[in-house]
Amino acid sequence: MLSTMLDSSASATKTAVPAPRVLPPPYSCLNRHPVLPIPTHDESARMNFLLNLFSHTNAVIAPQMKAVYENRVAPKFEAAHGRPCASSREVRDAMSKDGAYQTWAALRREAQESRQQYGRSMTFRQIDRVNAVARMLNAGSDRLRLDPSLDIPRYVTAVDNHCMTGGYTGAIGADDVSPAANYESGHYVVAGGGTGPKSDLVGRSMAAFLRAEFPNFAPKRILDIGTAAGFNALPLAVAFPDAELIALDVAAPMLRYGAARAKTMGVNNVIFWQANAEKLPFDNDGFDLIVSAMVWHETATTPFRTMLKEIYRTLKPGGLTLHFEQPNFDPATPVFEQFLRDWDSWYNAEPFWAKLHTLSYRDETIGAGFAPEKVFERMAPKAEEPGVFPDWVRTVNRHDAEHKLMDKRAADGGGAVVETKRSGPMYFFGAFK
Ligand SMILES: C[S@@+](CC[C@H](N)C(=O)[O-])C[C@H]1O[C@@H](n2cnc3c(N)ncnc32)[C@H](O)[C@@H]1O
Repeated sequence: MLSTMLDSSASATKTAVPAPRVLPPPYSCLNRHPVLPIPTHDESARMNFLLNLFSHTNAVIAPQMKAVYENRVAPKFEAAHGRPCASSREVRDAMSKDGAYQTWAALRREAQESRQQYGRSMTFRQIDRVNAVARMLNAGSDRLRLDPSLDIPRYVTAVDNHCMTGGYTGAIGADDVSPAANYESGHYVVAGGGTGPKSDLVGRSMAAFLRAEFPNFAPKRILDIGTAAGFNALPLAVAFPDAELIALDVAAPMLRYGAARAKTMGVNNVIFWQANAEKLPFDNDGFDLIVSAMVWHETATTPFRTMLKEIYRTLKPGGLTLHFEQPNFDPATPVFEQFLRDWDSWYNAEPFWAKLHTLSYRDETIGAGFAPEKVFERMAPKAEEPGVFPDWVRTVNRHDAEHKLMDKRAADGGGAVVETKRSGPMYFFGAFK
């Protein structure tokens, strides 16, 4: 039905419909370790179905929504209002009346709900064993520091981010790791396998970026804020084996799982530490490097600002802070692109995502105390785990499809996303103190 609707939209074509793509890597490529839930044959089959559904809706159908907008929705809106759509919300409201868009949006939401349902049912079927393995691996370890008295912010506990029932903190009992076991089981699926078998593409790319841009930088104390289960902290700990890395989060289930997982992977220079990054339990000027990966889009604006100030306070003079996030919008970002990139705020339980797009990381970093000439933004290459996946894997991730819109705009001279050099799809911002 969707293809018929798309065909009819494309018959009066102004925008070409892209060709279908190849399949994502199978669920069996996900890195196995003793704390990860073990899928049955049927559970693997479900996850493989979802991998393909995510890849197809995000990499094949999503780009066609541009054709639907340009060929059908925008002309209708302009005929009715005598002007083009002026905001992401206006595009959303206009698109919401279109059958092809409704079908794509429903598929995308359904894929997300199914991912949570499949991941949770697989996890809970074997949760006693998974929790026992984590407990055994963490017993007597000095690599896990929990604070049961921690007051966890409401913007974390009240949101079921990306439809994850119970969020990051929703433990079902003492020593529970189920939110993290479910998180890892499905992360690979949502990303179409694009973040690699260990879901660590960001950390690997950060480490490669640091080596390439600052070859003499050898941090000894590293802090990863909002580490969750530490997927992207581990490659940094491996890249700087002489450093001690503190992987910090408010969510105890994620930290328990992360500490146990790191142990099974032989990464020993990481301490998983429960604390609120709005009030870091560390002295001034203590860290050489403070990083985060995909944290700010799940953070309300005021805590985001408070955390940046805490980063400034706890960083050594000359130290570096580096963050991976979705780029902000710039004045030249077309409203359709804004709508597509804001989508999760409305339909995927990501309430802070759209607001973050409208901020300026540069201004926010300066506002936290960093000198303007020491703030930077970069587009950097991906550093995939070599030899694990074939090259085409990089084409199936949803953010790749979104980045292509930005790359195309930059190539067309339609406004650069960042003012500094563009050399890849990974967006980083950062600053030296
Ligand atoms: C999207 S996850 C981050 C994923 C992780 N960095 C990775 O690379 O896999 C966001 C995390 O930020 C954590 N978080 C949110 N606010 C926080 C705060 N104030 N202090 C510490 N952690 C926080 C959440 O608990 C959650 O685990």
